[in-house]
Amino acid sequence: MHIEIEKTKTSPDIVIVAETLADVPAREALLDRAMGLKRRKKSSEKLRRGRRPSEGLGLIARNADGSVVGTVRLWDVRLGEGGPAALLLGPLAVDQSMKSAGVGSALMRHAIAEAARLGHRAILLVGDAPYYARFGFTAEKTGQLSMPGPYERERFLALELVSGALDGTKGVLKAAGRKLKTERARLAA
Ligand SMILES: CC(C)(COP(=O)(O)OP(=O)(O)OC[C@H]1O[C@@H](n2cnc3c(N)ncnc32)[C@H](O)[C@@H]1OP(=O)(O)O)[C@@H](O)C(=O)NCCC(=O)NCCS
Repeated sequence: MHIEIEKTKTSPDIVIVAETLADVPAREALLDRAMGLKRRKKSSEKLRRGRRPSEGLGLIARNADGSVVGTVRLWDVRLGEGGPAALLLGPLAVDQSMKSAGVGSALMRHAIAEAARLGHRAILLVGDAPYYARFGFTAEKTGQLSMPGPYERERFLALELVSGALDGTKGVLKAAGRKLKTERARLAA
């Protein structure tokens, strides 16, 4: 998969592509720089550990020289024990050198469009509402849902890709992604 992003004024040569194993060290270094080492202790991490991202939904932004300048992944979850399937988005991060150049928005737009194209019904995330509101995320429909660990409720946001997909959903999110098979892959995820 190779998706050309719409050209932004400030970053005309950025493309959004599916990440490969070769991108993993650069992606991990970017995440450590952007979010610090505490990122591994987040509640979202419990839903990601030992799993692979949802098929086709591990995306990176690459600049003209091929460097990884942004990353976003989406993960398969269930909304409560035996509940409906949904996606958990994160982490999203953009290299400091490319800040406010539209790369984060391009990653988000493509992630949402690709998730919808693949037939997913809803995306959830824990993040800053003032940033994610522009993509349609709100805390309106997450009131009866919870993360498996500490998080701030007002940062627990969702976007329905299919109208009504979150109606009546309740319970703790459960990991539902494909499991990583090898230790090498586990370290790379
Ligand atoms: C948040 C992040 C992904 C945004 O990426 P980006 O490529 O700079 O974002 P965009 O260019 O698409 O959008 C920039 C706009 O979002 C705003 N913005 C950035 N982070 C924001 C936040 N946390 N809350 C509200 N607005 C935010 C900027 O002020 C800017 O506003 P403007 O368009 O009015 O100038 C990036 O700053 C980053 O990697 N931050 C560190 C990691 C992180 O916090 N990830 C998100 C976890 S919730």
